[in-house]
Amino acid sequence: MATTKPLLTDLASTVDRVPSNFIRPIGDRPNLQQLHSSIASIPIIDLQGLGGSNHSQIIQNIAHACQNYGFFQIVNHGIPEEVVSKMVNVSKEFFGLPESERLKNYSDDPTKTTRLSTSFNVKTEKVSNWRDFLRLHCHPLEDYIQEWPGNPPSFREDVAEYSRKMRGLSLKLLEAISESLGLEKDYIDKALGKHGQHMAINYYPPCPEPELTYGLPAHADPNAITILLQNQVPGLQVLHDGKWLTVNPVPNTFIVNIADQIQVISNDRYKSVLHRALVNCEKERMSIPTFYCPSPDALIKPAPQLVDKEHPAQYTNFTYREYYDKFWIRGLSKETCVDMFKAQD
Ligand code: OGA
Ligand code: NI
Repeated sequence: MATTKPLLTDLASTVDRVPSNFIRPIGDRPNLQQLHSSIASIPIIDLQGLGGSNHSQIIQNIAHACQNYGFFQIVNHGIPEEVVSKMVNVSKEFFGLPESERLKNYSDDPTKTTRLSTSFNVKTEKVSNWRDFLRLHCHPLEDYIQEWPGNPPSFREDVAEYSRKMRGLSLKLLEAISESLGLEKDYIDKALGKHGQHMAINYYPPCPEPELTYGLPAHADPNAITILLQNQVPGLQVLHDGKWLTVNPVPNTFIVNIADQIQVISNDRYKSVLHRALVNCEKERMSIPTFYCPSPDALIKPAPQLVDKEHPAQYTNFTYREYYDKFWIRGLSKETCVDMFKAQD
């Protein structure tokens, strides 16, 4: 069935089969049994006492999680519940607006700094993904907030407050990650230039045949670190020792992952790990990642302190602009974008 509607949300509720453009080749389909049976998960780190009584233990826990999983969940992160619930509610309201209202924000151009879109990159991909998403640049806030949706009426205020809080948390985590690598606390802060921050609101409608498609196929994130909020519907899976671990939703936690730029800065001590999102037939799933990133002009390279005879530099120097452009053109795949910037020996 050919689709003429640009967005998935409105189409999804009218079909009882997955349209053919969403169907993955047979060797590349999700295993739904795993989604429900997975017991092991990624580490949970309590941030209470970071910068205080429990500082060095927390730094060790972060080092361990980053080396072995590339992912961890955080509790006692200091983000007020009210800020989170306003963010979640206004996101639900946004995706509940009439299609004509939502479509005012539609664009398939990945260079636009505010846009509603679908799948991943409809201009370059062969198979579509079961997702709509609103993507926003959020730092510096004053540069972007006027482009954000003005409907629902509290959207700008609620999302601005959430993104300010996420920036504070990102800076705290980047200090801790620097320290966990044996670098000065402000090393990564300085390496990211003027800094950037993007956010997505991912909306995965119920899917009639979730065994045939993905919400998002396996990929690594292109930014520095990602802080993800998910609703109570499982779907996120992380590759660990060749197996897909499901990250079951835990109230009041965020999921943090190392993304490609920290892999480069750490000279491969920390890995940007593949992850993906599955969909299900009953419930809508929503996730809200904050992608903390370098500014486009930042020059990214392995930290000199982490380069020596036994650990030669694994990457060439590049600007984040070059990297980010490649990421969107290539599309999501298991051969991660970071491999294109590997040093030749
Ligand atoms: C992403 C992502 C996972 C999820 O948006 O990059 O990995 O659970 N999302 O939605
Ligand atoms: Ni991701």
